Amino acid sequence: MTTDGGGAFPEGFLWGASSAAHQIEGGNVASDFWELEHTPGGPFAEPSGDACDSYHRWREDVGLLADLGLTSYRFSLDWSRIEPEEGAFSRAALDHYRRMVEGCLQRGVSPVVTLQHITVPRWFRRSGWWTGPEAADRFARFTEAVLPVVSEGVGWVCTINEPNFAATLEYDLAPGSAPPGPAVPAPETVEAFVTAHRRSVEVLRSVPGLSAGWTVCAVDYQPVGDAGKAVDEWARLRQDVFLEAARGDDFVGVQVYTRELIGPDGRLPVPDGAETTQIGWEYYPEAVAGAVRHAAEITGGTPIMVTENGVATADDTRRAEYVTRALRALRSVMDEGADVRGYFHWSLLDNFEWLLGYAPAFGLIAVDRSTFRRTVKPSARVYGDIARTGHLPD
Ligand code: NOJ
Repeated sequence: MTTDGGGAFPEGFLWGASSAAHQIEGGNVASDFWELEHTPGGPFAEPSGDACDSYHRWREDVGLLADLGLTSYRFSLDWSRIEPEEGAFSRAALDHYRRMVEGCLQRGVSPVVTLQHITVPRWFRRSGWWTGPEAADRFARFTEAVLPVVSEGVGWVCTINEPNFAATLEYDLAPGSAPPGPAVPAPETVEAFVTAHRRSVEVLRSVPGLSAGWTVCAVDYQPVGDAGKAVDEWARLRQDVFLEAARGDDFVGVQVYTRELIGPDGRLPVPDGAETTQIGWEYYPEAVAGAVRHAAEITGGTPIMVTENGVATADDTRRAEYVTRALRALRSVMDEGADVRGYFHWSLLDNFEWLLGYAPAFGLIAVDRSTFRRTVKPSARVYGDIARTGHLPD
């Protein structure tokens, strides 16, 4: 895919928004997180509950996305609905997700399907989670079970979402389990995720025309002072081991929100006076360029999809600026030669932000917590205009 170098995005570039089942569907009672969210004294600000009721309102959500001028919707399957007990698959849940795929296609929206986004069935956690002895077999069997959902009309499938975030989130879920020092995925966890991903990709390769990859939580790590070596090591342990595993895949999903400054002794605080978002990350829309450039280098040319990028803010004018600046930065890194196939804003809706509950607002669309009424924010229209025209504002 080439760009014309004149400010336009290429023909066929996917303009999307992302979501994840547990964060928007509501009532994901067979998932491990449902149980964790209801464990007294646990780390969650609040349980996910009804979320955005998107399990029932997905047609409205896809319709709003299409009306904005976006061309693609990234959503995830809830493994725990599909396989609530080990080896017992729910026909009804599979049919539900197939209807979503078809509903997207009917609205001219390309579905991008994530097979597993952070949460897993309760039985999978009980039997050892990803580091359990049969995890890769179980995930391969699940992938086979969902082939009827993705085998027609789906061009892109993400196997596992952000294994690096999932690995370190475990330390928060089980206080006291973290080794000393800043959180790093354990080598055996990395290996377990990579093996499961590879097995899933093998299964997906049987579907003609389908591209399979996984998505990596990326940060634009920037060295400060004499920290060239330190930044390489920092990035290697936290993201590069997962990017390296994407070499040779059909694509890799890059998910990036901010930068972090790394000095010779590790991560530095957000600079004095810098704007921060609702969750304390630096407001830094240009991070997407650094992260994509880095991913292109590490994966050695695997096509890139920016599968998540966005900002938690109650001030929607800051989101409008964020998305515009991020796309300008993305465009410039594409001009340098990065092979980027699409951009997905996180998120379509304000939703359940894991341990932080519903306080952070990442959505292009607000959701009333008691009526589920959706309200399109002005930033969504700014993004939609860029998507419709394929051009950034002057
Ligand atoms: C990455 C995760 O995939 C998603 O679930 C999360 O809500 C966003 N980042 C924002 O933190």
